[in-house]
Amino acid sequence: MNLTGRTRLVGVMGWPVSHSRSPAMHNAALQAAGLDVVYVPLPVDPANIGEAVRGLRALGFRGSNVTIPHKQTVIEYLDRLTDEAKVIGAVNTIRVEADGSMTGHNTDCYGAVGALRQDGGEVAGRTVVILGAGGAGRAVAAGCAFAGARRVVLLNRTVERAREVVAELRAKLPDRCEWLAGGLGKDALPESIWAEVSAVFQTTSVGMNDFGEIPLDANVLPSGCHVLESVYSPLNTPFLLQCRARGLRITDGLAMLLEQGALSFEFWFGIAPDRRAMRRALDS
Ligand code: ATR
Repeated sequence: MNLTGRTRLVGVMGWPVSHSRSPAMHNAALQAAGLDVVYVPLPVDPANIGEAVRGLRALGFRGSNVTIPHKQTVIEYLDRLTDEAKVIGAVNTIRVEADGSMTGHNTDCYGAVGALRQDGGEVAGRTVVILGAGGAGRAVAAGCAFAGARRVVLLNRTVERAREVVAELRAKLPDRCEWLAGGLGKDALPESIWAEVSAVFQTTSVGMNDFGEIPLDANVLPSGCHVLESVYSPLNTPFLLQCRARGLRITDGLAMLLEQGALSFEFWFGIAPDRRAMRRALDS
């Protein structure tokens, strides 16, 4: 890496941030694109988030990613939000504009849909299921609606939480698609709807531990269904292994991580990154 007097910065604000795979992935993309920009980890104590956001402008950053626990609290320090960030109520990407103003965007929203498309799938006009109604599930559900899904089904262990998120998204995105909420299980939907499911986005934290748990029995899914996992440690979660054994098409958790990063890169620099270089960095 050749740092010069003109090197600009981007980074990721989180607390903690030391586990983040984003610096490796983004620096690989920056290097492949030949940009004189470096991506750095930015550990920001929640008490200092306002100062840190203002510091981006003061220090000439091109922008920053934002991760837990700052995705909502950064909003009040920004000058504008994109439609996606407004609907989701969370920001994972900040861009510092030429005039110094700051725009908040959310690429978690299209990361899932983008990862599906990279693997030849599509959500437009289809029925999709999202497992999990936390921050990730909400972003993916909104992304599916923005991308033209016909029916978006949000299933969560705590059904009430799924209902609340669906009510909120339905109110913010009226007439976009049909919205359904339910629990994690076969009984959540009639068989006729299960048969129409073309993609499942797994956004719960199930699979991150070694308990061998799965969020949903893959046997309820139709054979043409494409399953995307968001857990990437371990990469082969029990759910992905079960889906693979059933012969379903699968996309692993690093693909979603990669795609939200690729979309941030495009938002900052206006060019598509080398996704293969990013994936190599994530795999190494
Ligand atoms: P994130 O922002 O990453 O989505 P989160 O807001 O903490 O994280 O949400 C975690 C998600 O994983 C929730 O959907 C949670 O379900 P509940 O709303 O019922 O808590 C889900 N989850 C966590 N552990 C689970 C488990 N053992 N079985 C099923 N779902 C689980």
